[in-house]
Amino acid sequence: MEQQHSFQIVIANESHLDFATIICDEMANSAKARGTGIAKRTPEYIQEKMREDKAVIAFNQDGIWAGFCYIETWSHGEYVANSGLIVAPAFRKSGLAKAIKKKVFELSRKKYPEAKIFGLTTGLAVMKINSELGYEPVTYSELSQDEAFWAGCKSCVNYEILMSKDRKNCMCTAMLYDPKDHYEPEETKQFFEENVSGLERLLKFKQWKLLKPFLRKEKEGNGGGTHKSFLHFFFNL
Ligand SMILES: CC(C)(COP(=O)(O)OP(=O)(O)OC[C@H]1O[C@@H](n2cnc3c(N)ncnc32)[C@H](O)[C@@H]1OP(=O)(O)O)[C@@H](O)C(=O)NCCC(=O)NCCS
Repeated sequence: MEQQHSFQIVIANESHLDFATIICDEMANSAKARGTGIAKRTPEYIQEKMREDKAVIAFNQDGIWAGFCYIETWSHGEYVANSGLIVAPAFRKSGLAKAIKKKVFELSRKKYPEAKIFGLTTGLAVMKINSELGYEPVTYSELSQDEAFWAGCKSCVNYEILMSKDRKNCMCTAMLYDPKDHYEPEETKQFFEENVSGLERLLKFKQWKLLKPFLRKEKEGNGGGTHKSFLHFFFNL
């Protein structure tokens, strides 16, 4: 039988600085386990977010760290990203990510009421959570074009794919909430529910389509080049 948890979800502060390392480690471990890319964060960066009241942290009823998410601002505050969402494996599938995202969304709206809030994700769970908050899927051109934001992707394993697509596409799906022009959460939630299988297929298609050239390159490097070059010559594959 699944264990029931209750959580305390608060805005992080100086008293939480010691949790920065465990948070960073879990972010890195989870990305590795999923085999997906991630913009790497340092404990110092996480601590800075805690000091600035730009992070949300969660604990279980026994005070064990359970989850985290933080706010980043881009394009001189025109955009806000709710990034680095992580739930400790023992506490997943209990609705915690949803509760953390809600809290960090409310904090973002309070601190930056005019800002567009966005996120990039490779996961269906996060797309679902975002949809319930009123985010809609958008193209990368609708995100912040701040160089510093995109520089954060440099530490992701998929950075080469992003650049090969001129920053117009990558493995992540972009979602945005524009306070001046947005659908109601009921509408975006309904859109997600009606299109969930299509969105799932899109994620799989991206894996296949965007990774393919890079997997081929790797294979060529391992001596499998002649056959591929032949295909490339005749069929541009
Ligand atoms: C993704 C992650 C944050 C989800 O945390 P969680 O606490 O288990 O999520 P929740 O329990 O709040 O689930 C929210 C919804 O997503 C669904 N969901 C959760 N994990 C899912 C998964 N792996 N695949 C599909 N749906 C999933 C849940 O069923 C729930 O839907 P419901 O409202 O119909 O019940 C967590 O698995 C995690 O930390 N993963 C590693 C880091 C990561 O991927 N972060 C996101 C970076 S963008």
